[in-house]
Amino acid sequence: MRILGFESSCDETGVALVELDAHGQAHLRADALHSQIAMHQAYGGVVPELASRDHIRRVLPLAREVLQRAEARLADLDLIAYTRGPGLAGALLVGSATACALGLALGKPVLGVHHLEGHLLSPFLSADPPSFPFIALLVSGGHTQLMRVDGVGDYALLGETIDDAAGEAFDKSAKLLGLGYPGGPALAALATQGDPAAFALPRPLLHSGTLDFSFAGLKTAVLTTLRKLEAAAGADGPSAQARADLAASTQAAIVEVLVKKSLAALKASGLRRLVVAGGVGANRRLRAELDTAAARRGLRVHYPELHLCTDNGAMIALAAAMRVAAGRARPQPAGAFDVLPR
Ligand code: KG4
Ligand code: ZN
Repeated sequence: MRILGFESSCDETGVALVELDAHGQAHLRADALHSQIAMHQAYGGVVPELASRDHIRRVLPLAREVLQRAEARLADLDLIAYTRGPGLAGALLVGSATACALGLALGKPVLGVHHLEGHLLSPFLSADPPSFPFIALLVSGGHTQLMRVDGVGDYALLGETIDDAAGEAFDKSAKLLGLGYPGGPALAALATQGDPAAFALPRPLLHSGTLDFSFAGLKTAVLTTLRKLEAAAGADGPSAQARADLAASTQAAIVEVLVKKSLAALKASGLRRLVVAGGVGANRRLRAELDTAAARRGLRVHYPELHLCTDNGAMIALAAAMRVAAGRARPQPAGAFDVLPR
């Protein structure tokens, strides 16, 4: 089965061709991505209308590039997949309309995919794919969830954030530190120069006994700490070292909560496999701490390939393929396209 996937939920236009072989093994034939980060940077965040317009400009050239690199023709496709939601309505409509128009013109079936299911299944495209069942830690800019995953489409939510997502905590703290957008990678880079134990920041809900998360208080603590540093520093502001220490301490707080709650979910379920997905899954400290904890306890941790951690078309094509193969979705002839922003 050959699937062309479109992702356009936020600020990346992603297109990819994935092939599912007779053994159910997924292969990424080609993928192409255009990130709008540079365009939105001047505004400190994503501007929805600009995002939609840029998706329109990029989507067809990217699709052509993917087909060319995969040495495939439109006629070779078995299915066309797109992100149905959640995401920005106008942005989603571009991927959905493109997929449905292609489907209609070619007489090929189409399938809308849940963006988070794409992230969740993305490690199946790695060299070391997981097997079911597993615990999934889904950490993106919009979501922080722990799930028990028994198969494709068989997901039980164990806990989630009651306020900000982990990626949001990275982004908002980075903004306070004047690091711009998107803050996660920038804060992680600054943190490499700092001392993670320099500031005692809160670990909200760490001992709540539940698998829920809360990150809003951490952002407030970062702001309070920054104000104190500014007041003590005078006209020049906090030193580069103090800022790096605060970045490192913030990252340490977020990572510690994510690691401890993931270990708690594994322990409570009796499962020994953890899958980490979503943009924050690219964080090196998170990966290092999870790997250390897993090695000590004989657990396995699976990650997507680094370039498939953040939004991309490959995970959308893959999720569609796995859903169809598992009998969990029936591709439809292209009709009226629909999106589900929330
Ligand atoms: O999954 P994703 O690309 O988009 C959503 O579906 O939200 O995740 C984006 C989030 C952003 O908050 C970004 O700052 C964060 O992932 N992120 C990181 C890193 N790379 C991306 N956070 C921490 N460390 C990173 N290396
Ligand atoms: Zn995402």
